[in-house]
Amino acid sequence: MKTTIDQVSNHVGKEVTIGAWLSNKRSSGKIAFLQLRDGTGFIQGVVVKAEVSEDTFQAAKSLTQETSLYVTGTVAEDTRSPFGYELQVHSLEVIHEAVDFPITPKEHGTEFLMDHRHLWLRSKKQHAIMKIRNEIIRATYNYFNESGYVKIDPPILTGSAAEGTTELFHTQYFEEEAYLSQSGQLYMEAAAMAFGKVFSFGPTFRAEKSKTRRHLIEFWMIEPEMAFMDHEESLQVQEQYVSYIVQSVLDNCKLELNTLDRDLTKLEAIKAPFPRITYDDAIKLLKEKGFEDIEWGEDFGAPHETAIAESFEKPVFITHYPAAIKAFYMKPDPERPEVVLCADLIAPEGYGEVIGGSQRIDDLELMEQRYKEHNLTGDAYQWYLELRKYGSVPHAGFGLGLERTVAWISGVEHVRETIPFPRLLNRLYP
Ligand code: 4AD
Ligand code: MG
Repeated sequence: MKTTIDQVSNHVGKEVTIGAWLSNKRSSGKIAFLQLRDGTGFIQGVVVKAEVSEDTFQAAKSLTQETSLYVTGTVAEDTRSPFGYELQVHSLEVIHEAVDFPITPKEHGTEFLMDHRHLWLRSKKQHAIMKIRNEIIRATYNYFNESGYVKIDPPILTGSAAEGTTELFHTQYFEEEAYLSQSGQLYMEAAAMAFGKVFSFGPTFRAEKSKTRRHLIEFWMIEPEMAFMDHEESLQVQEQYVSYIVQSVLDNCKLELNTLDRDLTKLEAIKAPFPRITYDDAIKLLKEKGFEDIEWGEDFGAPHETAIAESFEKPVFITHYPAAIKAFYMKPDPERPEVVLCADLIAPEGYGEVIGGSQRIDDLELMEQRYKEHNLTGDAYQWYLELRKYGSVPHAGFGLGLERTVAWISGVEHVRETIPFPRLLNRLYP
């Protein structure tokens, strides 16, 4: 019977055939251990010379790395392996022999691996990270669908900038100039006025000359937007959603977390509510932690975020940033207009900002004033103003960066390993 590795537990003691690739091999005169993978998982195939034909044993011994084959054998429980099963091989049929696969079990440099990303994706670690990414995506859809949100897809080609004009990718749109979307937010605000609670999940682009472990040029963002919700209510959605995805990964990706040696106690602690600290208090905390030069009004960099996160076991919200260092659409705090009703969610363990969110300005006059201050002239933004003209309501939303979230939950150092084909400052290949 033909099956896949993730299904072998249903076939213990039975003969099955699996289409697979050889990821690694060890053999002696009497036995060969084949590390097999088929995309759904990894399993060890054991070929015992005394129990198979001479041809089969010789074929097993001469298999090269990444050769594709059909393997037939009996599924057996194996308590020594983390997977719990092995395959006692009876016969095998080579589909295609791979010659000189470039990524061998020895250590390779990062640039070499990145140049071979199309092949590197086959490795056990990369497989585990992508499965966790997939689980976070699945959990995201579950969470928002179960909570009454409508998925809305904002455009990728736009005429307006959501997050400032310096990081835009420009492109020609027939006779007009267009940009690749940096955020779907402005469109999601229009959608919230039509559907109440909405979320998007799509690619976004930032032409940022940043070369850090947290920055990609192309990344995926989940952007919920909620009508009739204020800043505080939005924080509650954020902490519940993040707790939900962490729990889903803990429940459904045990093997992958194990492959990555992830410290599970750190993830098990991630339960709502999350701590909150104002920007003002964050400045005080930073001064206590040795950043004596930081002044009120300055934005935080990665070292500041890491230092703040160190004081907490859970993700922490930094709220009420100065208006001057945040986006034009954020609503000023009515009690203190120099700060805005916003929050960044900083992940623990040095993974930095995973969410940026805010309550939005709903007053037409104030939005018009912000337009002037930010030189947002021209027709491209008129439609956004009109949202404040026809039944404006308090509303709030946020954007969660998928890759930074995958990096944090998986415990991998750099975001380049959290997306199948990373786009980085100096990389468009493969
Ligand atoms: O803080 P940002 O820029 O917020 C927005 O774009 C808002 N319009 C979202 C909203 O309110 N709907 O980006 C949101 C998140 C960040 O917290 C970070 O996780 C991720 O997107 N992000 C990046 N991830 C990888 N590479 C980059 N260059 C990123 N820039 C932002
Ligand atoms: Mg931000």
